[in-house]
Amino acid sequence: MGILTSTVALLAIPGASAQLNQLAKAAGKLYFGSATDNGELSDTAYVNILKDSNMFGQITPGNGQKWQYTEPSQGSFSYTSGDQIVDFAKANDQIVRCHTLVWYSQLPSWGADGSWSTSQLTSIINTHIANEVGHYKGQCYSWDVVNEALNEDGTYRDSVFYKVLGDSYIPIAFKAADAADPDAKLYYNDYNIEGAGAKQQAAAKIVKLVKDAGARIDGVGMQAHLIVGSVPSQSDLESAMESYLSAGVIELAYTELDIRFNSLPASDSGLQQQAGDYETVTKACLAVDACVGITIWDYTDKYSWIPSVFNGAGAALLWDENFSEKPAYSTVSSVLQAAATGAAGVTSTAKSTVQASTTPATSAKPTASSGDCAISQWGQCGGEGFTGCTACASGYTCSYSNDYYSQCL
Ligand code: G3I
Repeated sequence: MGILTSTVALLAIPGASAQLNQLAKAAGKLYFGSATDNGELSDTAYVNILKDSNMFGQITPGNGQKWQYTEPSQGSFSYTSGDQIVDFAKANDQIVRCHTLVWYSQLPSWGADGSWSTSQLTSIINTHIANEVGHYKGQCYSWDVVNEALNEDGTYRDSVFYKVLGDSYIPIAFKAADAADPDAKLYYNDYNIEGAGAKQQAAAKIVKLVKDAGARIDGVGMQAHLIVGSVPSQSDLESAMESYLSAGVIELAYTELDIRFNSLPASDSGLQQQAGDYETVTKACLAVDACVGITIWDYTDKYSWIPSVFNGAGAALLWDENFSEKPAYSTVSSVLQAAATGAAGVTSTAKSTVQASTTPATSAKPTASSGDCAISQWGQCGGEGFTGCTACASGYTCSYSNDYYSQCL
């Protein structure tokens, strides 16, 4: 991935008004992105933020590319919803993570009844993927080829695909996607695989399963639908990523990040906790070279999926329902900015032994040492839990940003 070079990062260190995608790229990542959905694109205030490629360099269609919409009756394909999002991204110079091909949920009724023979369902998967990936060929940075194949205990989910084909449906899907678009990165994507556990181990086994079958799998997508105050430590997040790299993928991404409150309204201290939780995930991605980017699952609480599924929960995103930036926004911005300028506080907490073969080191290296030190402009110089240098370079002052972050301005 030649565009991810430290040289690019060093050439493009942004200023104080820089936005999330600019900062993420300057820190050596490929993008900072957001999911979106068709209905929201008529909301002008919403679109004005989403379309800014300095803020979001990557878009994921939240629904429009799912089987239910793309092959509503067998052999009859429709790309109207997906195309609207992909066209939006292209018009705004944003890359697309395409989502998703084989998932137990949001299947059309004709495909979900389970009364197929193995050859019939293999043919159905192959036809669906050949058609959809073929339609979007050259337009998707990546595809979430198989989504949420696992139960929480690491066993396979009893989907129609598993019932008929066992785990062989997974490499079948990856082979079909590879054949239809050899240039798209191919991902396994799931939730609750961000930290250690049976499901994380099973996700690493899926990587091996696909590779052992001779198919291509490039990445693991960690959805990261997390809960305020219950986010795994940075070290645990990094260890899980290392397990996927050891299993054989070359890249990783946080693909659907949101961090929800289980009860509302959120208190001021809760919002600070949420900011710290976003900081943990952001720093983990920054610390692992192969983590190419972070996608939030829509950017505003106005359009989050959470309240409709978790009664009473929500406020999970970086912007509130009125499009105001929350404390977590400032923290993510500050952390990315610090990484872009090579300041302290964004290095790995885990022993990183496996690195992606195609991604060079990020610029996230500490420049300060205790004692005789001076943090350069934008660098972190304080905040709860911060133990690095607190002196700013000549001409800059260590300024309070939030409880977790002060920076040299
Ligand atoms: O399109 C219909 C519309 O015609 C109808 O009027 C309306 C009435 O409720 O429903 C609309 O469909 C909804 C669809 O989103 C589009 O808005 C479905 O009811 C609703 O269930 C569906 O929810 C989506 C959910 O996946 C389905 O499981 C969410 O928007 C979407 O954000 C969510 O995304 C998933 C990822 O794909 C995979 N990982 C988990 C993530 C969150 O659940």
